[in-house]
Amino acid sequence: MKTKIAVLVSGGGTNLQALIDAQGKTLKSGEIALVVSSNPNAYALERAKKAGIDTAVVSKKEWGSQAAFEEKLNQVLTAHHIELIILAGFMTILTESFTSRYPKRILNVHPSLIPSFCGEGFYGLRVHQAALDYGVKVTGATVHYVNEIPDGGEIIAQKAVYIEENDTPETLQRRVMEQAEWVLLPQAAERVCAGLQNKA
Ligand code: GAR
Repeated sequence: MKTKIAVLVSGGGTNLQALIDAQGKTLKSGEIALVVSSNPNAYALERAKKAGIDTAVVSKKEWGSQAAFEEKLNQVLTAHHIELIILAGFMTILTESFTSRYPKRILNVHPSLIPSFCGEGFYGLRVHQAALDYGVKVTGATVHYVNEIPDGGEIIAQKAVYIEENDTPETLQRRVMEQAEWVLLPQAAERVCAGLQNKA
């Protein structure tokens, strides 16, 4: 049996697309059973629907408190028998009361080489802006386990990407996605799913 994966998204969903496209190829030991969006208008939901994957919307705004939001999220995941959660551009912080229910069963992709340019407030284009402002010559992407510390869980895989002279946050974001995130995330997901199956 393949590991049942939920991908949590908030926006465009290009990393979700990379995972969808990897199914049956790089990603052999797991299958995407559910896509949960924190944003009802996320294009990622369209990508999931086109691929015939179940979707749900769970937003903090709708549920009011962090605790109610996390409870609802947990209910949806449990109802779908989810074994592994992948955060792919998911923009809501998860607290310890949620993450502790899924030890080593939540992955995140972050668009820098952790521990640079990570933690609270570092998401999306802000990460690339910070790398350009600092003047680093190399950045990249990291896939890591998620615990209660934002971007602080154990690192699973990293890939470096060179910064080019006239980069803007947008050009850098695109290159980091193409060269690192879309490659690394399916590979790391496969490794973790295969590991979970060996344990079962
Ligand atoms: C990706 O670059 C992802 O690494 C980043 O948001 C983007 C989502 O794009 N995540 C974070 O910054 C988390 N801290 P996508 O919706 O096209 O996959």
